[in-house]
Amino acid sequence: MMWKGLLAQYKEYLPVTEQTPMLTLHEGNTPLIHLANLSKQLGINLHVKVEGTNPTGSFKDRGMVMAVAKAKEEGSHTVICASTGNTSAAAAAYASRAGMRCIIVIPNGKIAMGKLAQAVMYGAEIVAIEGNFDQALAMVRKLSETAPVTLVNSVNPYRIEGQKTAAFEVCDQLGKAPDVLAIPVGNAGNITAYWKGFKEYNDHHQTGLPKMHGFEAEGAAAIVRGEVIENPETIATAIRIGNPASWEYAVQAANESQGKIDEVTDEEIIEAYRLIAKSEGVFAEPGSCASIAGVLKDVKSGKIPQGSTVVAVLTGNGLKDPNVAIDVNEVSPTVLPNDDQKVFEHIQGVVAS
Ligand code: F0G
Repeated sequence: MMWKGLLAQYKEYLPVTEQTPMLTLHEGNTPLIHLANLSKQLGINLHVKVEGTNPTGSFKDRGMVMAVAKAKEEGSHTVICASTGNTSAAAAAYASRAGMRCIIVIPNGKIAMGKLAQAVMYGAEIVAIEGNFDQALAMVRKLSETAPVTLVNSVNPYRIEGQKTAAFEVCDQLGKAPDVLAIPVGNAGNITAYWKGFKEYNDHHQTGLPKMHGFEAEGAAAIVRGEVIENPETIATAIRIGNPASWEYAVQAANESQGKIDEVTDEEIIEAYRLIAKSEGVFAEPGSCASIAGVLKDVKSGKIPQGSTVVAVLTGNGLKDPNVAIDVNEVSPTVLPNDDQKVFEHIQGVVAS
């Protein structure tokens, strides 16, 4: 049967009414992929929820379809958000689909190229500030209090409602909740949404509850440190956030589930990023790979016991950030003349090695 998108699929779990426009780009229904090689190596049963297959290449589509549909239902003409890139791509896409205007505020020079390309293509009004995400978010929150615009960052509860559907899908794909759900943490909306989703699905279908293991980047680990980080830094620009808006909810998810919020270094993120691409054929953007880096760390320390069933959320597509992919690899194309003999000789050398 044709997949009709999240609002149609999960309407009984969502704030969808007769008046809600059935907006969709056919988001959701993303694959849960078993990582056979890494599972064997680590002694666990590891799957990844590949959110990069969503229409704009990240999990943000789940929240944005709901938030933009409700904004439209309420008669709004304009949505606004601050973003490290993925939220703005999703907001711009769904706004254009809904015939609405979209304004995005981004940290200048700190969003991945693919994400900027999307915002431009979808026709958003783009404001790049000489500041970071936290400052951009503070700005749009204030602005939306007086201007006739709808804020669609994850402080908008409809975003969380849409994003919780990923937990439903994980339970359906696995047959039950995993033992551990590993997830990157930036502004902390997604860990909040997954935990809400797991609890609601368990109430309806007795699917059980996972331990929530959230991972911040070391240079932006406000929750782990217990203090706001004024100048967050990480190669994973998606999660370069020093004052997460859903901080308390993330701590609550970790505590209630007997999980934790931890941190991973940029080196660990890049190692995980390369590992899953090279050994499993799965290419996810750096910020996403904080989840895999966290799993590697927790298996090593014993915090994830052998034999556990683990789902790591890969939040965004690897093609979002081509520059990091090129920069972290020594491998580049071998340039040869257009000459059969020379190319054959080279390939023979590769095959023999
Ligand atoms: N992974 C990716 C690829 C992201 O883009 C984000 C957040 C996260 C993880 C963290 O999710 O904020 O819910 O804890 N990106 C936001 C944005 C901030 O503007 O695109 P979170």
